[in-house]
Amino acid sequence: MSENVKIAVKDLNIIFGKHQKEAKKLIAQGVSKTEILKKTNCTVAVTEANFDIKDGEIFVVMGLSGSGKSTLIRALNRLLEPSSGQVILDGADVLQANNEELREIRRKKYGMVFQHFGLLPHRTVASNAAFGLEIQGTPEEERIKKAYEILKIVGLEGYEEKMTGELSGGMQQRVGLARALANEPEVLLMDEAFSALDPLIRGNMQDELLNLQESLKKTIVFITHDLDEALKLGDRIAILNDGKIVQIGTPEEILTEPADEYVRTFVENVNRANIVTAQTIMFEKPTRIELKREGAEVTLRKMRNTGLSVLPVVDENNKFIGFVFDDDVVKIRGDKSKSIRDIIYEYSASVYLETPASDIIAAYRDSSIPIAVVDENGKLKGVVMHSAVVSEIIGKDENEIRTDIKNALEI
Ligand SMILES: Nc1ncnc2c1ncn2[C@@H]1O[C@H](COP(=O)(O)OP(=O)(O)OP(=O)(O)O)[C@@H](O)[C@H]1O
Ligand SMILES: [Mg+2]
Repeated sequence: MSENVKIAVKDLNIIFGKHQKEAKKLIAQGVSKTEILKKTNCTVAVTEANFDIKDGEIFVVMGLSGSGKSTLIRALNRLLEPSSGQVILDGADVLQANNEELREIRRKKYGMVFQHFGLLPHRTVASNAAFGLEIQGTPEEERIKKAYEILKIVGLEGYEEKMTGELSGGMQQRVGLARALANEPEVLLMDEAFSALDPLIRGNMQDELLNLQESLKKTIVFITHDLDEALKLGDRIAILNDGKIVQIGTPEEILTEPADEYVRTFVENVNRANIVTAQTIMFEKPTRIELKREGAEVTLRKMRNTGLSVLPVVDENNKFIGFVFDDDVVKIRGDKSKSIRDIIYEYSASVYLETPASDIIAAYRDSSIPIAVVDENGKLKGVVMHSAVVSEIIGKDENEIRTDIKNALEI
């Protein structure tokens, strides 16, 4: 097991119904979920799930209703007993734990946030937030102190003594989150935690979770059926279809390399321009001019070789300075008083590796001039052509255009 794996799920099967043996046999033969239901009256909720959740990541599980998301997340802390397989948390199989060990695991390792909050309406915000600690027998003074601390973190300072029934949905879910965080879990399980909130509040809660996570650095398993939410929150996303994990990848991978039709259908409904970044569509290792060593002659030679009329200029540390045009290079050729620096195009623009395509398009002044892609130190990493961004936004076949650019830029 690699060092930073928090939870390793191995060969996990979850079947509902009496004739499990029969159902398992049919799974092994590759019989479909519908057929198994017909033949054995068993529902196969999760089949042969194999994946790792890394320490400190937000791992999103996404899928349509009934695809097995809740079943899967509830197996992680054994709220639901899997039919076979392993759930290895910090190196030990949760499914092998005895009752006492399981209680310990649930108390110390896991916190859970539900879709419908699950709050006690006639208790105060603080008492709800402290409820997990109360169950564990933490003395009142201590648990309320802790609750106040956590409520401040989730933005509910001043509401501690209100009844939860008086709060808005978004605020109630903050209480739910506070309750989960109060016993300082290592893993936060969130099953459609934001799905019941209205869109604006939902967006705010997503932002706040990301903010919180910057300092909390918990391992978070987040269930959703909403791709935008998955893409926004997930370090990695697992996609469930009919109980099977059909793909696990970063948001970028899910969008650019959907594993099958099911994932593709999800992905088609998203505005790619907001998510696909400069890094994906840039041409890497473009031909460049190094200001200190290379003058007009070398530049013209490189332009001839590549067939390009505009090239990026960098300093000796590969820091991007600007673009130069062939017309201007020709003008200074042979003129000892002028250098490449004198003809660098004043509107040369650069973006970062993680800039989304939609923002790159805004950076163009002229579609014939490429945009430089730089890292946080300003070093040239690539070049984005206007056509690549446009194809990204209008959804044309990117590969075709990419091949053209590649041919054009490569020496
Ligand atoms: N206790 C149960 N007994 C029998 N079948 C169940 C049980 N719980 C879930 N199932 C079945 O298992 C499958 C997966 O259900 P699950 O609730 O995990 O889906 P989900 O992806 O969370 O869906 P949703 O988005 O609607 O919450 C479904 O076919 C469901 O009918
Ligand atoms: Mg569910």
